[in-house]
Amino acid sequence: MRLLVCGGAGFIGSNFVRQRVDEHGDEVVVLDKLTYAGRRENLAGVAHTFVHGAIEDPDQVAGAIEGVQAVVNFAAETHVDRSIAAPDAFVRTHAQGTYVLLEAARAAGVRYLQVSTDEVYGSIAEGSFTETSPLAPSSPYSATKAGADLLVSSYFHTFDLPTLICRGSNNYGPYQYPEKLIPLMVLNAIHGDRLPVYGDGMQVRNWLFVEDFARAIGHVLAHGRPGEAYNVGGPDECANLDVVRRIIELTGGAESLIEYVADRPGHDRRYSLGSEKVGALGWAARVGFGEGLERTVAWYRDNAPWWEPIRSGDYRAYYERQYGRALGAGGVSGS
Ligand code: NAD
Ligand code: TYD
Repeated sequence: MRLLVCGGAGFIGSNFVRQRVDEHGDEVVVLDKLTYAGRRENLAGVAHTFVHGAIEDPDQVAGAIEGVQAVVNFAAETHVDRSIAAPDAFVRTHAQGTYVLLEAARAAGVRYLQVSTDEVYGSIAEGSFTETSPLAPSSPYSATKAGADLLVSSYFHTFDLPTLICRGSNNYGPYQYPEKLIPLMVLNAIHGDRLPVYGDGMQVRNWLFVEDFARAIGHVLAHGRPGEAYNVGGPDECANLDVVRRIIELTGGAESLIEYVADRPGHDRRYSLGSEKVGALGWAARVGFGEGLERTVAWYRDNAPWWEPIRSGDYRAYYERQYGRALGAGGVSGS
């Protein structure tokens, strides 16, 4: 199958492209704007055609979609903290970008899969969200993702476009940009930098290894029913503080590196997804959190050439703005 994968140079998109090419023999066209989070290095060694462009650019999209059988859209701004600091790119990419892609898929008459998130349902104190739970997003990130999901569904109902939505829980694994909890804590622990825990650290996330999510997306693309959304939850839930403690153990860091910092405004307390519907299609997670975290720590330890340019570039300025301290100035061993 020939696929257009938008945002395929990012974390989950690149894992998906690698899987489709290596395991399924698909031909893949990647359309990616290469924001700070998108990197050609993420696709090193993977055969694909690369188009540098934005999903909100109709001309770029029209060229990239030619001859494909399906569109899978990962392209997004993905960090909640950045959506609080500067929401504009989130509105542009999620609203305008998704609209442009839907129009192009409609003109080409091809299947369209939108990659979405558990965050569109908001926070849940107990139990798990199902696909019929109301959308109740709480950050500019999740609100614009929810808006995109609604637009996708409207193209099914109004124009009969064969659409699918996959809502994943928190992903982790190789190639994740170190602004997100797990890679940030792994790299800081390796360098002896402080480990900034927001609020009381008792927020719970439902961790999903990236290869499992990538496989679920491929599975839904092949077997999902048009017009439907599918939740893809990870096998394990874990409070942030426990995640950080496990990373300290795996990296040989010190517990004293933990630093409680100001909480994120509007911080969602807990996410949890039930995966029965995607399970009925034949998907199940294969990697538990213990194994996945070990593999992730090992990958970052073994792939310094991947993260060294990040930690020495613009990321330093981001880090200073976000945490009010310079990277590597944690006062422990520094980097
Ligand atoms: P990421 O930030 O690592 O990658 C996003 C990619 O999209 C980058 O390559 C970036 O360059 C590209 N991009 C951004 N704006 C673009 C635009 N306007 N046009 C073209 N390309 C653009 O993100 P990720 O973590 O891989 O997330 C991918 C998708 O999965 C997103 O839609 C996200 O909402 C969803 N998701 C993420 C998680 C998670 O835990 N990371 C969980 C569930 C769902
Ligand atoms: P994150 O990886 O940003 O994902 P999301 O906000 O999409 O769930 O954050 C995961 C959890 O970790 C979330 O509860 C916020 C918390 N967190 C920290 O405590 N410290 C940090 O430095 C970061 C980046 C996140």
